[in-house]
Formats: sequence, structure tokens, C-alpha cells
Amino acid sequence: MLLSVVLLLVLLATFGWLWMRRTVSPYHFPPLVPGFLHFFQADLPSHLLSLAQKHGPLYRVHFGMQDVVVLNSKKAIEEALIKNWLDFSGRPQTFTHQVVSKDSHDLSLGDYTPLWKAQRKLARSALLYVQNTMEPIIEQMVQDLCKRLLAQAGSPVSIYEELSMFTCSIISSLSFGEKRESEIQLFYNCIQELMVAWDSWQIQILDILPILRVFPNSGLRKLRQVVKKRDRIVQEQLTWHKETMVEGQTRDLTDYMLQKLREQADGPNRLSEEHVHMTLVDMFIGGMETTSSTLTWAVAFLLHHPEIQKRLQEELDEELGSGSLGSLPNYRDRDRFPLLNATITEVLRLRPAAPLALPHYTRQPSTICGFDIPKNTTVIPNLYGAHHDDSIWEQPYDFRPDRFLEPEPSQAGIPFSCGVRVCVGEAVARFELFLILAQLLWTFKLLPVEGNHSLPSLKPKFGFIIKAPNFQVRLLPRRQELE
Ligand code: HEM
Ligand SMILES: *[C@@H]1O[C@H](CO)[C@@H](O)[C@H](O)[C@H]1NC(C)=O
Ligand SMILES: *[C@@H]1O[C@H](CO)[C@@H](O)[C@H](O)[C@H]1NC(C)=O
Ligand SMILES: *[C@@H]1O[C@H](CO)[C@@H](O)[C@H](O)[C@H]1NC(C)=O
Repeated sequence: MLLSVVLLLVLLATFGWLWMRRTVSPYHFPPLVPGFLHFFQADLPSHLLSLAQKHGPLYRVHFGMQDVVVLNSKKAIEEALIKNWLDFSGRPQTFTHQVVSKDSHDLSLGDYTPLWKAQRKLARSALLYVQNTMEPIIEQMVQDLCKRLLAQAGSPVSIYEELSMFTCSIISSLSFGEKRESEIQLFYNCIQELMVAWDSWQIQILDILPILRVFPNSGLRKLRQVVKKRDRIVQEQLTWHKETMVEGQTRDLTDYMLQKLREQADGPNRLSEEHVHMTLVDMFIGGMETTSSTLTWAVAFLLHHPEIQKRLQEELDEELGSGSLGSLPNYRDRDRFPLLNATITEVLRLRPAAPLALPHYTRQPSTICGFDIPKNTTVIPNLYGAHHDDSIWEQPYDFRPDRFLEPEPSQAGIPFSCGVRVCVGEAVARFELFLILAQLLWTFKLLPVEGNHSLPSLKPKFGFIIKAPNFQVRLLPRRQELE
């Protein structure tokens, strides 16, 4: 009798417990990684990857008051951003995003709304327009860069500085038309200042611990100052464009977008000049350091791998002949340069310029790999982590462009992310990477500077962007007539 009562009680307790568990959490959430300090790790993308080795490619981790979901494999990222794209297309509206995005008129940080869709469409068509019409201008600029570098032939050149000024001048030509060197320098300094101010821990911590916002914060004051300066510069350009615009003529991105703004139909989703303003800011922020750091990494890897550099130069000579300066490779013919394409693909795999992409945000409950992801969850695609998955890439840490040329080639990575929020500048970026590397390698042999520690470090330095190492390189002209 006693035994049956005890058994009955045990059974009831077990059922009760199981039932409770069902009602408390009917969901199957991704595993939660213990610890509160993960986001303070210096090498965040590789730290997040190391957590994946223990907890699987998809997990939750504490971020201040909330949990965020981190995706560390290409499969999980594609399932979220392509298959279930509608659920994952938002952006978290954080305090720091508000500070830099001019009353939420930003494209890259804007949430997924009908107005945002109109803004994205405008940016896409504007970039397509300038890429098609300004190709010869960019080609000329790349040639001029190489001519300028020829003047320094043989002596050490700080390649990152050259390339980052250069990518700034390309973006500013596309955005604002031909500008004086002093103006380009002004844009460049302002964006650099903005990135430094924003990427500081004093700012980032305000999203994690909201309480700190009530205290005086010199970092925040500085950030607000730089944002004001940035807006003054962009406003000046907008005013100048409106004053000098000629009917039937579209000089650049700004003209294009201002003209489209005027042609808009009446309705609830009308874009304003603020949207054009912030889209232009995004082009500079998104397009400058990403591209120059990718190019610098390419140079660094090629210094470590002279045999690949030599083969690239043979490929270029074969296709272009060894004629004089001016026989530029054409972007339309890029499939004639398979090794160059494979090299760019490999650099973007090993050093995806935006290693954690930008944070996404769920607009409705969803799932990834069978795990439930609730509404209003911040989701971080760890592109750097995904690119080092040894089930997809053999020896993932090795620089080996040939993996993409083998009879059964490896898959390419997803350095520009994927889905509706894929980098809007991908085509422009690929165009720049191809043209600049082709022209640079065709014109010069890249050599390390003489001395003991002459090869650049390949250790990535992580921030919003994987910063390129600052090193020097010697550029030797490959053609007699250039010497
Ligand atoms: C090698 C060069 C580049 C890389 C690796 C890169 C990578 C990325 C990545 C990973 C994202 C985040 C996508 C996501 O949220 O899932 C992004 C967004 C963005 N990029 Fe790029 N990018 C590059 C060049 C450019 C250029 C040249 C431009 C402009 C001309 C640009 C403009 C943008 C903008 C505006 C966004 C925000 C898109 C949105 O939120 O819908 N990027 N980029
Ligand atoms: C470049 O290489 C990637 C990776 O192998 C491939 O997917 C792509 O089709 C290639 N593009 C061209 C133009 O050859
Ligand atoms: C998500 O966030 C919105 C806006 O902050 C809020 O109104 C809504 O209740 C939240 N939904 C859930 C399920 O947390
Ligand atoms: C270079 O390395 C050699 C041997 O490793 C050493 O004897 C020499 O002093 C170094 N030179 C410089 C400039 O550091």
C-alpha cells in the first residue's frame, strides 16, 4: 500500500515536472553559452568561432541585458538570410545606431520597412548607374595611381596608405564627381575619425549597459562632434549639386538620387533628402576601408607567396600581351583571368573585410537548423568564422587560391553576406578589386623591403573591419619602357 502511494507520487511528480517543462519552454532554443564577457574579447570573430567548436555552429550568448544568436557556418547563415530572409531582415535599433544615423534615415542601419526598401532600391539603381557610366573614369584613375607609384619605384611604399586614399578618391568621384585633392583628404579624415570614435569601447559599452548613458562620456561627445562635421560636409555637397545641376545630365550618385527624389510619386513612402544624405554617408563608410583593407591583404599574401604572384603575372601577360601601359584588363573579360579571380576569392575568404557583417534582427519568430529563434532577437553572422570551416575548406587557414581552380573546386565564401541585406556595393567592390590588382600586378613586381622582418604580419586585427597591417612594399616596374 505504502509502496503504491510512493510510486504514484513519484509518477505524478515526474509527469508534473515534464508538463511544467513543456509549458515553461515549449521551444527548442539554440544552446546558451555561459559567461558575460564574450563581447569584450579582443579577437571577437575568432573567439566566437572557438565557442562554436564546443557548442555547435549556432548558439546564444549574453550581450548585456539580452541574448544574441551567433551563426558560425555558411549553411546556418544561408538558411537564415536566404531561406528565411523575411524573418531575419531587420536591424537592431540600438542607442549608438541612433547617434550616427540622423533620425534613422540610414540605409545600412535602418530596419526593414517599406520606406527602407525604397531607399535600398534607390541606392542599388544609383550604384548600377554610376558603375556603368563611370567605368572609363575609374579605369583612368587606376592608371593614374600606377603612374604615381612608378615615381616611387624601388623605394619602400606604405601600401595601405596609398590604397585607402585611393579607394576614398574612387568613392568620392562616384558620389560627388571630380574633386580636388584637398577635398578628398577632408572626406577621408572625417570618415577615419568617425570610424575610430564609433569603434571605441566607450561607445560600444553604451549598448550593453544602458545605465552608463546618464554619465558624462567624452567618447560620446567626440562621436557627436564628428557626426556633426560629417553632416556639414555632406550637406555642402548636396547644396552644391542642387545649385549646379543641369537638366538631362547625371554626373554622379548625388545627381542621380536627387533627380529620382523629384520624380517620386506622392504617397506614404516618399524618400526625403535625409535619405540621400545618409545613403551617401553609407557609401563612404561601407566602401572605403573595406576595399582598401582587402587590397592590402592581397598584397600581403602575395609577398608571402611569390610563386602565386609570378603565375598571376604570367596570366596577365598572356591575356594582355606585354604591351605598353594602357592595355588595361577589362572587367567584362574577367573570366579570362581565372587565377586572379581565384586569388581575390581566397583573400575575401581568409579576410572578409566585415568579419561579423552587420547585426541582423528578427521581425517575427523563426527557425534555423531546427532551433527556434524568437522575435526581436539580434543575430550575428560570423562570416570570418564561417570561412574557416574545415568541413568545407581543406586547411582553411592556408592561403591557397588553387582550391578554386581544381577539377572539383571549393565553394566560394560569403564575404558580402547574402540575402536582401547583402552588401549593396558588392559589384562596385569586385570591380575595384579586379581592376586595381590586375593593373598593379601587370605593372609591378611586388617585393618585400630589405631587412630582417621584411614580410608583413598576416595576423588579422579585428574591429568592425579586419584592419590591414601597415607595412611597406617595394614596387619594381616589370617593363623596360616604364623604368
Ligand atoms: C571588399 C569590399 C566590401 C566588403 C567585404 C563588404 C561587406 C559587406 C557586408 C558583410 C555587409 C553586411 C551585410 C549584412 O548585413 O548581412 C555590407 C553591407 C553594406 N555595404 Fe559593403 N562591403 C564592401 C564594399 C562596399 C562598397 C564598395 C560599398 C558602397 C559603394 C558598400 C556599401 C554597403 C552598404 C550600404 C551596406 C548596407 C546594406 C544594407 O544594410 O542593406 N560596401 N557590406
Ligand atoms: C570566380 O571564382 C569563383 C569561385 O571559384 C566562382 O564562383 C566564380 O564563378 C568565378 N568568376 C569568374 C568571373 O570567373
Ligand atoms: C518586439 O519589439 C517591439 C518593439 O520594441 C515590441 O512592441 C514587441 O512587443 C516585441 N515583441 C516581442 C515578442 O518581444
Ligand atoms: C638580422 O638577423 C641577423 C641574424 O638573424 C642578425 O645577425 C642581424 O643583426 C640582423 N640585422 C638587423 C638589421 O636587425
